[in-house]
This record gives sequence, structure tokens and C-alpha cells, in this order.
Amino acid sequence: MLVVDNVTKRFATADGGVTALENLSLEVSKGRFVAVIGPSGCGKSTLFNIIGGLVEGYEGRVLIDGQPVDGVHRDVGMVFQEESTFPWLTTLENVAFPLDVAGVPKAERLERARALLRLVGLEGFESRYPAELSGGMRQRTAIARTLAFQPKLLLMDEPFGALDEQTRLLLGDQVLRIHRELQQTTLLITHSITEAVQLADEVVVMTYRPGCLKRLVRVDLPRPRDSAIVSSPEFGRLVAEVWSDLRAEASRGMQDIESHRKEEIS
Ligand SMILES: Nc1ncnc2c1ncn2[C@@H]1O[C@H](COP(=O)(O)OP(=O)(O)O)[C@@H](O)[C@H]1O
Ligand SMILES: [Mg+2]
Repeated sequence: MLVVDNVTKRFATADGGVTALENLSLEVSKGRFVAVIGPSGCGKSTLFNIIGGLVEGYEGRVLIDGQPVDGVHRDVGMVFQEESTFPWLTTLENVAFPLDVAGVPKAERLERARALLRLVGLEGFESRYPAELSGGMRQRTAIARTLAFQPKLLLMDEPFGALDEQTRLLLGDQVLRIHRELQQTTLLITHSITEAVQLADEVVVMTYRPGCLKRLVRVDLPRPRDSAIVSSPEFGRLVAEVWSDLRAEASRGMQDIESHRKEEIS
């Protein structure tokens, strides 16, 4: 379904340029849930933007169902790190919005939006405005709105990054339920090891800048899953496995940031 083939992306900067991604390849088969994890600054959002068609001027190829991604694509539904609900629309209107744009008749789009809100666990909140919801509820509204497009690929960049860990674990249950019901092909970008192992079939561990594939960890935990799984020995083993690969990369990232600070001070 999704093929990222040998992608390299350089950004021009004042001090010569930075290679954000180098020869990165990965694949997501139909119906699978893949998580990409890497330290801050390793190129995760760059990858997200490239797959979403928001970045030009990279080497390599991105294919969806064999078709090259060229600009923003209806087949890719993006959920951003920053909250992106429309504050002037109710929850129901937010989710119905893309259907309105697509010309779906009013009765049908409201019915579909209601069903999507049920799916993300927001039944009863249809007439609330985003300001009246919690951060997690707003992000679920954003997910429901993205799903309204019926994208082939659901692409999420740290959608719960701003939330506390307990809330994230519980939101993970909702994400697992959505995936179970829709069998939606999903690529989740995260810096949380727990989140990656809780949700994904495969975890792609990225190296620190330039970002390339360090290792693929298969998560062979049975489905259906829920957040109770985090206390199982099997879960602990997988977290340790991901961390053993991530640790060196995260510490490279930390050293890089600290040496930049030193330069700034001196
Ligand atoms: N538009 C841009 N111009 C210049 N450098 C960029 C741009 N976008 C990202 N970068 C650089 O590319 C690297 C990867 O960034 P990003 O993809 O945001 O990482 P992550 O999401 O993993 O934290 C960083 O060093 C960042 O400063
Ligand atoms: Mg990012």
C-alpha cells in the first residue's frame, strides 16, 4: 500500500544545510499499523510531510498503491501534532466538514459524522465546540474528521504528544478499537516507546540525523489488545528491545543539542 523507497531529503540552512533523511525505506501493507519512532530532530516530521505530499525536492520515491505521491493526496489522511480542529465549528460540524467539501448531501454527511464520532468515543459531544473539550477529545475529533475522507492511509504525527501518559494509554485503546473496526492502514509517528509497542504491528526505529532505518521490530502481541497489556512480561521485553536500539540514537541527539548550546554560549 505505502512504499517509501530510498528517500533522502536535505534542507538548505544558513550554515550550509542539513540532511534530515538519508536513504530511508519502509513499507506498510494494507490494513497494517506501523509506528515510526526516533529521537527528536531525527526527521520524523519531515517523513510525515513527504508522505503527505507537503514537501518537494527530495530524492527517492513515495508510492501509494503503486502511484507516486505528487502533492497533497486524497488517499493520505493526515493528523497533525498541533491541534487542528476548527474552533468555530461544533464537533459534529468539524467531522462533517470534509464531507461537505466533497459534496455529500447534508443528511448523509451528518449521519456519517455521527457514526465517526461514535467510533472515536465522542458520542454525546456532537454539539460541543472544541474549546469545551479536553485536548484528547479534540485530537479524537481531528482523527474522526480525517477518517471522514476515507483515506487509504491514515498518517499521524505525534497526535497525542502534548498529553500526559495515562491519557495517552487510554486514548491508545480508542485507537486500537478504531483500527479493529476499520482495518485502516495506519502509519503513526511517535517518540513514545510504550505507544509504539501498544498500538503497532511493526515498529520502525530511526537513527538520529540523518534519519534512516535502524531496525524493524515486529510486535507479535496478539490482537485484540488493550492498555492492560503494558503490564505483561511480553510487553516489557518488546519495550526493552526497542529501547536497546533507540538508546544510542537518543543519546547522540542529546549530545548534538548540548554541543550546540555550548557553541551558542561560547
Ligand atoms: N523547513 C526546514 N528547513 C530547514 N531545516 C529543517 C526544516 N524542517 C526540518 N528541518 C531540520 O531537519 C531535521 C529533522 O526535523 P524534523 O523532521 O522536524 O524532526 P522530528 O520530527 O523527528 O523531530 C532537524 O534538524 C530540523 O531542524
Ligand atoms: Mg516532529
